[in-house]
Amino acid sequence: MLYVEHLKKSFTEPVRNVVDLVRRRRHRFFAVNDVSFEVRRNQVVGVVGESGSGKSTLGKTIARIYEPDEGRILCDGGDVSHVKGKRLLDYRRKVQIVFQNPYSSLNPRRKVQSIIGDVIRLYGLENEISVHECLEAVGLPKSYSERYPHQMSGGERQRVALARVLALRPSLIIADEITSSLDVSTQMQILKLLKEVREGYGLSILFISHDVAVVNYISDKVLVMYGGKIVEEGLAGEVVKNPLHPYSQSLIESVPDPFIGWNPRIPDFDEEKKSVGCIYSSRCPFASEKCFARHPDFVNRGDSHRIACYLYG
Ligand SMILES: Nc1ncnc2c1ncn2[C@@H]1O[C@H](COP(=O)(O)OP(=O)(O)O)[C@@H](O)[C@H]1O
Ligand code: SF4
Ligand SMILES: [Mg+2]
Repeated sequence: MLYVEHLKKSFTEPVRNVVDLVRRRRHRFFAVNDVSFEVRRNQVVGVVGESGSGKSTLGKTIARIYEPDEGRILCDGGDVSHVKGKRLLDYRRKVQIVFQNPYSSLNPRRKVQSIIGDVIRLYGLENEISVHECLEAVGLPKSYSERYPHQMSGGERQRVALARVLALRPSLIIADEITSSLDVSTQMQILKLLKEVREGYGLSILFISHDVAVVNYISDKVLVMYGGKIVEEGLAGEVVKNPLHPYSQSLIESVPDPFIGWNPRIPDFDEEKKSVGCIYSSRCPFASEKCFARHPDFVNRGDSHRIACYLYG
């Protein structure tokens, strides 16, 4: 249902020195740099990578909170990369984004009744769906419609945020670190709920998280992101069991193992040391001469597994 083709989104870097300040020189960098992938109907696609890899920027660009610099976003066959007005509103109903901290996205001065009721009215859906139905869909009792956000736990607030999104019957939900601030058991409940609503509503989900274990649990397909690029893509079980890209390997090996304790394997890196050629070259223990010349193209391994690395050329 969603195709992303060569998507790019850049930001201007903060001014770093006096020379740049005086010359009014501003450097741009690509937070999302030539990203392509597909989300099928009823599929959960996980995006995993360390903080700063561009996951949220990717989510926000797809949700059209940001306008892409280059590339295309195709939804149900239509190009929505630069749509405006009514078409943008229609697209934003179809593709909904939920963030990590529901406390900041739910108005603290309004009861759940009006938090959810407002979006129902905004889209004129009063005859199609009620606040109580939305609450039921996320496993909250009707009485919660009378509560304010501060009268609920973190997990319950996240359920309300999901209920508000489900009210619009979206085709795709972009879930950006939605379980990251929750304790482990609440996290599990929200993940199970997400699986249920996906089945119940026939939804597609773009599930963004820095947590490999969580992404593996929920996703059918996984995209590993580093420095604004996808470096590996494949079926969840396959990528996590058999990561091929050196970055995926270090990311997955660094998942804390309860039996052996914390085992961080990501090599240290210097913020100032930028990669040339391959996006991972400044940190990669296997980098050779050609890695510094040009970022590698994708190489296919099997039907749905692809890696951007010269080791597999
Ligand atoms: N609105 C913004 N303005 C400028 N830089 C930004 C903005 N949003 C994100 N960035 C930068 O883009 C990069 C990717 O950020 P982000 O997409 O938030 O990564 P992630 O979600 O993977 O942690 C980071 O270097 C971040 O500082
Ligand atoms: S292309 Fe080279 S630098 Fe990049 S990940 Fe592969 S081996 Fe490492
Ligand atoms: Mg983020």
